[in-house]
Amino acid sequence: MPEKILGEYRRHLGDFDVVDFVDEEKINSLRGQLEVDVPLDLHWTWEYGSEVEELRNLYERGKKGQWNAETDIDWDMPFSRDEWFMPKTGVMLLPSLLSQMGADDDTCREAAWDEFAHLLSQLLHGEQAAMQLCGQLTNACPTMDAKFYAGSQVIDEVRHTEVISKFLMRKMGTLHPIDPTLKVLLDMLLEAPTWKTKTLGMQTLFEGMAVGIFDQIAKTTSNPLLHDIIRRVQIDESRHAAFGVLSMRQVVRESEPEELEEMEDFAFSILEALNANQQLDMLRQFGPKYGLDPGSVVEMMLSLPEWPFINSQVYMHTVIPNLKRLGLITERTESEYRRIGVLYTDGKNALPA
Ligand SMILES: [Fe+2]
Ligand SMILES: [Fe+2]
Repeated sequence: MPEKILGEYRRHLGDFDVVDFVDEEKINSLRGQLEVDVPLDLHWTWEYGSEVEELRNLYERGKKGQWNAETDIDWDMPFSRDEWFMPKTGVMLLPSLLSQMGADDDTCREAAWDEFAHLLSQLLHGEQAAMQLCGQLTNACPTMDAKFYAGSQVIDEVRHTEVISKFLMRKMGTLHPIDPTLKVLLDMLLEAPTWKTKTLGMQTLFEGMAVGIFDQIAKTTSNPLLHDIIRRVQIDESRHAAFGVLSMRQVVRESEPEELEEMEDFAFSILEALNANQQLDMLRQFGPKYGLDPGSVVEMMLSLPEWPFINSQVYMHTVIPNLKRLGLITERTESEYRRIGVLYTDGKNALPA
């Protein structure tokens, strides 16, 4: 197994190795790193006709599926602090914990608001990264089909960045800065050296995580405005996921065994580090406000018998099954994914063969 990402920010909580940023200065300096040196191979191609018909069809679907984040959304629909826009318990960590501890309804609602604004802000920063990475792909991909598609995905990701930032500013009146763990991992994806790892990072890891999170929000929110926005974003994301499957299948077919092993390690390292944060970046920000100690909350979560099931939900939604289908989870990594609670199977949840 490759060395763990963010080694210097690791500490043990029982058997679990968390990533925990406590130094404010370090966090601010990571956020302040706006210039990132990314390697980029630019490929010309003189083949303008379509080589992969399915990819061109997807590009055509993308053109038809365009929508306008300003005029197609009814921005007059309400979204207010006094409303439970998500279930009080079971989806978000802070209101679930606080209500269990007997906190009053107002406090729980405020905690839900804080946690959701934080989550949506992180998704927004992720959309910005997706936009930039797709821009890189238009340069780096070798075929015209992939360039056309990646180009059309850029405008989708621009629209997602637009719509989520407008929602945060107009409806929630707040926008939280990027979490340090997320910043490091997004930079690693943007810095991936070859078009193959960029495609893996973007189309499988990024998109796979986004699909899982957006689906959870769409299924649980009771607010019509939020639901409409997330549903529109999700329709675009499902096209991106289809592009991911098509292009990654080709990447895998064309790769040498050593390259595949590197890709498998790369995917594992990124997901391992993401999972190792266990929402500590969020808990460091809001825990004190609600009288919660971040380390104790995570320790308590890790000790729950149902933790692997709860923890694996977002991963098992799309990213893990897709990696498995692509052959990028082999015996070598499967037991590791299980050990860290990212891959979990039981009678109801199975992995594709
Ligand atoms: Fe997106
Ligand atoms: Fe996307």
